[in-house]
Formats: sequence, C-alpha cells, structure tokens
Amino acid sequence: MSSMKNVHVLPFPIFQDERGCLIALESNKSIPFELKRIYYHFGNIDKKPRGFHAHKQLHQVLICLNGSCKIKVANGMEKDEFILDSPMKGLYIGPMIWREIEYGTNDSVLLALVSDYYDESDYIRDYEKFLANCKKLRDKV
Ligand code: TYD
Repeated sequence: MSSMKNVHVLPFPIFQDERGCLIALESNKSIPFELKRIYYHFGNIDKKPRGFHAHKQLHQVLICLNGSCKIKVANGMEKDEFILDSPMKGLYIGPMIWREIEYGTNDSVLLALVSDYYDESDYIRDYEKFLANCKKLRDKV
C-alpha cells in the first residue's frame, strides 16, 4: 500500500467458480464514496499517455479491465506509481493528486468510477498550478 495520503490499492472480493469470476462493487462499501459517474478509456492504439491532471474535490477508483496500465501519482511532495493489470483490484485516487496514465497494451480498458458529475472547473490541468495549490494547502495547516 502507498504511504501517500489519498491514494491506495483496493483489493476486491471475488466470487469464483467453474463459470469464471464475478466482482460486485457498491457505493460506500467496496467503493469508498457515493458513485455518480463511470467512464472508460479504450482503443488507445498508439498507447498515448492520458491524465495529466488533478481534481480539486473528486474521488475516483480506477480499474484496468483488460491489458495493463501504469498510474503515476504525485501529491506535490512525493511521487508513486502503480501497475493495474487485473480487474481484481482498483486504485483509489482522492482529491489533489496529480495522475498520469501509461498504457501497457493497446487493448487496455481502464474503467473509472467517480464521485461526481463531469465538471471541468474541478480539474487542475497545469502541473505548475497544481504544485502551487498543494503548497497553498500545506501552508494553511
Ligand atoms: P479528458 O479529460 O481529456 O480525459 P483524460 O484526462 O481522462 O485523459 O477528456 C476527454 C474529453 O472527454 C473531453 O472533451 C472531456 C470529455 N469528458 C466528458 O465529457 N465527460 C467525462 O466524464 C470525462 C471524463 C471526459
């Protein structure tokens, strides 16, 4: 588990039998927030990286349903990275975490479970601005 506040791996309970596997995820239980939106990335033939942003308020769980993805995270002080290569785990990313996503295979499918509706004003897409906001928050406490 990462020591970084607001980022951690969620191992999911799995129901497995001769028919395969089933994972069920519920708001405020296996997913540590109330779910309002899902989206997914797929069809990234050239494996171009995505992300390059942080959210002011949003909570997310990322799950790689097929292929693999490397998720690089930063909180303004530390950096960490996680490989998602199985639908049996998710990566929780809370507010004020910069994330960059690299795709291991061009058939990777990355599912995001999200705590709120799409709102561009919740995004910080400039890394220097992100670092400045992190510093402001640190100076407040
Ligand atoms: P973008 O934020 O660039 O994706 P990412 O940062 O995950 O790589 O989003 C690409 C486009 O999709 C952009 O025009 C905004 C739109 N979009 C929505 O309309 N709703 C959503 O929930 C998301 C995540 C993106």
